[in-house]
Amino acid sequence: MRKNILCANWKMNKTYSEAQDYFKELLSMDLPGSQVDIVVAVPDLFAKMALDESEGSDIKIGVQNAYPKESGSFTGETSVSALADLGIEYVIVGHSERREIFNESDAFINEKVLAVFEQGMTPILCVGESLEQKEKGETKKVVNEQIEKGLTGVQAEDISQLVVGYEPVWAIGTGKTASDEEAQQAAAAIREKIAELYSQELADEVRIQYGGSANPENIGSFLAQTNVDGGLIGGAGLEAASFAQMIKVAG
Ligand code: G3H
Repeated sequence: MRKNILCANWKMNKTYSEAQDYFKELLSMDLPGSQVDIVVAVPDLFAKMALDESEGSDIKIGVQNAYPKESGSFTGETSVSALADLGIEYVIVGHSERREIFNESDAFINEKVLAVFEQGMTPILCVGESLEQKEKGETKKVVNEQIEKGLTGVQAEDISQLVVGYEPVWAIGTGKTASDEEAQQAAAAIREKIAELYSQELADEVRIQYGGSANPENIGSFLAQTNVDGGLIGGAGLEAASFAQMIKVAG
């Protein structure tokens, strides 16, 4: 039995004080933390505050990106190792906004996945097809390729910790979602690919989230799909009350 994992990805939103208020509000709620893993992926600037605010609670802190080199002349970047040292547990890797806006390749994303595992953190590896690819019937091919390239060189012993975020690009922030069946089929294809690369036993331990216009009303039907084990939540995770509602559905 895989435990559901819900991650709120704040993207580039909130001021410091809004971020603090969010944690105070979320922590004041009664959340089913033993039944669902709860992650809030904040901008790096808020990471230390988020860790302090959530200390001793069931809320884990993640970030939305990291640079895979240990240190050096990489102006403006934050290393995976510095984030691990701070106490960050999850790193979103390969989000479609990073792939598109920042031209991140599968090879670079793979470097990040390896670095995150090396530092003992959990990557949330995002994959998903564009509208054009969906219309050409290429969803399975696209996600399989992103999985295979993203996981190159990852040791079998790390795979059970992996979280995959399946996010159809056309569903992100659009109010359109994949159907339950589409989410289930894409997640099944991802799991099959991981089974082919490693083993069925390990693939069965990997948690696969659905992301793309998920909200408190629709998250339940995604989570009811046998291959979907959580959600990667953008807009609906920006308000503590709405994220808490989703956590309750998942718990
Ligand atoms: O990382 C989160 C996703 O990109 C989904 O965003 O829930 O606003 O569509 P959204």
